[in-house]
Amino acid sequence: MPDYSSEVKTVAIEDGVAVITLNRPAVMNALNMQLREEIMALCHALDADPAVQVAIFTGAGDKAFCAGADLKERGSRSTEGMYDERRFLRAKWVGAVAGMAKPTIAAINGYCLGGGLELALQCDLRIAAEESQFGLPEVTLGFLPGAGGTQRLPRLIGLQRAKEMILTGKRINAAEAERLGIVLRVVPRAQLLPAAIELARTIAKNPRIAVIQAKVALNASQETMLSGGLQAENEAWLPCLLSDTWKAKVARFKD
Ligand code: CAA
Repeated sequence: MPDYSSEVKTVAIEDGVAVITLNRPAVMNALNMQLREEIMALCHALDADPAVQVAIFTGAGDKAFCAGADLKERGSRSTEGMYDERRFLRAKWVGAVAGMAKPTIAAINGYCLGGGLELALQCDLRIAAEESQFGLPEVTLGFLPGAGGTQRLPRLIGLQRAKEMILTGKRINAAEAERLGIVLRVVPRAQLLPAAIELARTIAKNPRIAVIQAKVALNASQETMLSGGLQAENEAWLPCLLSDTWKAKVARFKD
């Protein structure tokens, strides 16, 4: 089995579930260039790895999922360097996790800010520990959430609520994030990873082709009008028909 771990992330794979842990706890698992580049490569590798059905993203330590872009690294960059980074990295980064064919879950264990929340928003499902804090503080730093936040958050919680969070830059707690629909549910810290793994295993038990094609169809619902979405649903359904999996699954219902 390949070892995907490195100094900035650990990856553990068991029973079809990959747990990816951002591993920079001394800086609240902030995203430096190395970590972002490694996550982008990992998304491709895990999609191609037959041992993986579902990927869970979480943070090392007991304080943060991810506090966003590494501001120490950012502070040391030139304007040209920042511009190049966006030109060459941005387009891939904003869709790296969201673009995975396999389902993804964010297990949010503490601060989930800026680019950290944008990473969580790329995941299909989000579960949070009770003490987690959420926010997109970029506007307070003279930027805007430029890694998908201005697009994914309003689609998830509505335009007005997204505007309140982004224009004020304020932080909200886990209960509020659950009420707004940013997270699916909130659990005590000790139950966070077990809950995410249980959810992942429930998904992983289903036929792989059906899960992946259902994700294709569901994602289409956010990109198109209803007629186009229904067409996409039909196209996503056909590969399921062409697989023999469904025949085995419905065999016991035969007359
Ligand atoms: N980048 C780099 N280092 C960070 C960091 C970040 N985003 N967030 C925290 N750290 C570092 C701190 O500098 C500190 O390091 P030192 O011990 O070397 O000083 C260490 O992590 C612990 O942080 P604090 O002492 O500040 O811990 P705290 O518990 O008092 O506060 C916090 C925690 C609320 C997360 C606070 O650190 C904070 O506000 N961090 C910045 C969050 C932020 O603004 N994120 C958005 C970044 S912009 C972005 O993400 C947009 C983008 O481009 C995608």
